[in-house]
Amino acid sequence: MTQEVITIERHILEQERAHPEATGVFTSLLYDIALAAKIVARETRRAGLVEILGLAGRTNVQGEAQMKLDVFANETLIRINSYTGRVAVMASEEEEDIIRIPEGYPTGRYVLVFDPLDGSSNIDVNVSIGTIFGIYRRRTKEGPGTVEDCLQPGRNLVAAGYVIYGSSTMMVYTTGNGVHGFTLDPEVGEFLLSHPNIRLPEKPKYYSVNHGNEPYWTEGVRRFTRWLQGLDEESPRKPLSSRYIGSLVADFHRNLLAGGIFYYPADRKDPRKPHGKLRLLYEAIPLAFIVEHAGGYASDGTQPILDITPTSLHQRTPLFIGNRDLVEQAEAFIARYDQPST
Ligand code: AHG
Ligand code: MN
Ligand code: MN
Repeated sequence: MTQEVITIERHILEQERAHPEATGVFTSLLYDIALAAKIVARETRRAGLVEILGLAGRTNVQGEAQMKLDVFANETLIRINSYTGRVAVMASEEEEDIIRIPEGYPTGRYVLVFDPLDGSSNIDVNVSIGTIFGIYRRRTKEGPGTVEDCLQPGRNLVAAGYVIYGSSTMMVYTTGNGVHGFTLDPEVGEFLLSHPNIRLPEKPKYYSVNHGNEPYWTEGVRRFTRWLQGLDEESPRKPLSSRYIGSLVADFHRNLLAGGIFYYPADRKDPRKPHGKLRLLYEAIPLAFIVEHAGGYASDGTQPILDITPTSLHQRTPLFIGNRDLVEQAEAFIARYDQPST
């Protein structure tokens, strides 16, 4: 029996046909992101060969060391999307301010937010890294896009996705109509549909958290973790296995396919980061949109991530993401042990 080969371009087009109001612009925008992903994938594969490794000598807006490949991925996404007339404004984890469309070029209807290279501390140890993106419709009617166009809750997303640069390169995206995964055929240069309609398995396998931060955890997070390990009397019978890569995209992708929960809670490690480490706009919100469309759930410990309206571009949030029952259990432990009763 032969099997049909579906390229990402054809898939996006067919998804768009389901929306009669669509104009083709959206299809092209998603395809532009796939193109950027291919360029970053090519550069990632060469990372050990060319002198691209090491610190670029500056820090990003969060004061963290920035690797050269971050800069490259950031600039690639910006360059590809600045001149097409499809985007009104962009926001990137690596840019302090919003990214405006250059003077003289048309602005479009969409807003693109992204973490150009996630897991950058893993680049020079040859561990998987990724790109995360979200697409909104602009709120303002015309003219250059604004910061308000970027600060929208996840419920307003029209699409979200990620690319993982691992043992193979994969792009996973949703426009709200199923979550679909494509694997890059590096010889042909096309993303081909390999994982249609991804759903979280009902029986979760893994929990993923940085155990090195345990001394700084709250009581609720500590007890929730013991519950996952089967040490709490109300625990599910079989303890979950632990897996942690330290690249959100890779940890999320594994748990999406195998079932489980990833969490980066608020902790007491760094008083300047009372809400944990991850960014609401570029990391938590797009992955929350994907997980919900795969049958899962994402929370900041007290409320759905998708309900939060960001108030600043680089806002951080605690994140609990994966199988719904596990995330709700985390919320229950936090409500019971961490929230002052009123
Ligand atoms: P980024 O490389 O975009 O700054 O993100 C790094 C994040 C994320 O990928 C990962 O989940 C987390 O950092 C790991 O942090 P710890 O090393 O503190 O566990
Ligand atoms: Mn990141
Ligand atoms: Mn990053």
